[in-house]
Amino acid sequence: MDILLVEDSRTSVLMVQSLLDEDPTENYRLTVAGTVSEARECLGNHEYELILLDLTLPDSSGLSTVDSIFEVAKGTGIVVLTSTSDEKIGLAALQHGAQDFLIKDETYRKVLLRAVKYARQRAISEREVREARELAEFATKSKSSFIANLSHELRTPLNAVIGFSELMLNDLAGELQAKQREYIDDIHKSGQYLHGLIGTVLDLSKIEADRLEVSEDFISIADVIDEVVERTGVAYTDAEVKLIANVQTSLPVLKGDPTKVRQIITNIVTNAVKYSPDGGDVNIGVRLSDGGEMLVEIKDQGIGIPKDDITKILMPFERTQVSKDRQIEGTGLGLPLTKGLVEAHGGAINIESDVGVGTVVTVSFPASRLISL
Ligand SMILES: Nc1ncnc2c1ncn2[C@@H]1O[C@H](COP(=O)(O)OP(=O)(O)O)[C@@H](O)[C@H]1O
Ligand SMILES: [Mg+2]
Repeated sequence: MDILLVEDSRTSVLMVQSLLDEDPTENYRLTVAGTVSEARECLGNHEYELILLDLTLPDSSGLSTVDSIFEVAKGTGIVVLTSTSDEKIGLAALQHGAQDFLIKDETYRKVLLRAVKYARQRAISEREVREARELAEFATKSKSSFIANLSHELRTPLNAVIGFSELMLNDLAGELQAKQREYIDDIHKSGQYLHGLIGTVLDLSKIEADRLEVSEDFISIADVIDEVVERTGVAYTDAEVKLIANVQTSLPVLKGDPTKVRQIITNIVTNAVKYSPDGGDVNIGVRLSDGGEMLVEIKDQGIGIPKDDITKILMPFERTQVSKDRQIEGTGLGLPLTKGLVEAHGGAINIESDVGVGTVVTVSFPASRLISL
């Protein structure tokens, strides 16, 4: 085990050396540096498993000694050695990055070896944690590229299903009988649904792997909301829900990815309509917060979300019991994707809800993304 001993007193050096020699189970290689600058040089040239650091040296004393060594230690554990009167400094050293401190009194002989062994054990545990984290990151990346390839492979045949069914619906392959039209319409809709689902899964995996790209265009939030209201109105013609948008035109321009911002608003508005099966209004408003953020608020009078479920439904595939009992169709992917898209813009999503009363979902975009005209 390679140890760097930073110590200017020859007696102390001999003492440490003799204590280490008493341990038959380990081969300690001790490098001695008499000053901080010498120690920094040693740390630049070689990797040590532990640094034993006396605080009072010819070119530095007290906590600044810890600071200058910690700066170049690259994660190597530091055990501070202090004289008897310095217990307070020893404690302060821990706050400056040291892992442990030893007081040079009569107990020193007993504790030094133990402290050295602990330090090594800590170094091993830290390495294991680091390796586990790296492995997990690698796994996420592999999963993400697996999903990207799979999505591509699934979309190719799906485009044929969608394209040809569309072609047949337009009577380009001869006139259809009523039953045929009904079935092919079903095939077409299912194909489009799957296409959307694959896109969602792909985006979610990109978000998880931190690979989602966000463009920086100028967006009129009022236009986006108008468009979403119109499309949702068309998609949910049977719903007894009134969509009311109340958006000033004088709002600042939002800098962001138009497709993604549209998707954010669409997902939340679609939920508001879908989870208001008994009718009611859905109100969409935009305002600026005191801190200058843009707040988009979507408020419904639907089934509501139990308080305990609010965190849960932001996770993939999670849905509330209320919506399942009512047999409202869904995958549970909309909100996690929306959250990821909002966060990719540096924003946040907030949900407030009462069961049977309704839900307010607020998306905030940071002031740094707004441009006042
Ligand atoms: N406006 C809302 N009112 C009531 N419940 C909601 C609302 N929005 C979301 N939820 C609940 O959150 C769950 C997750 O939403 P989401 O991720 O969009 O998935 P999906 O709509 O496909 O079920 C829904 O299944 C529903 O239980
Ligand atoms: Mg949804």
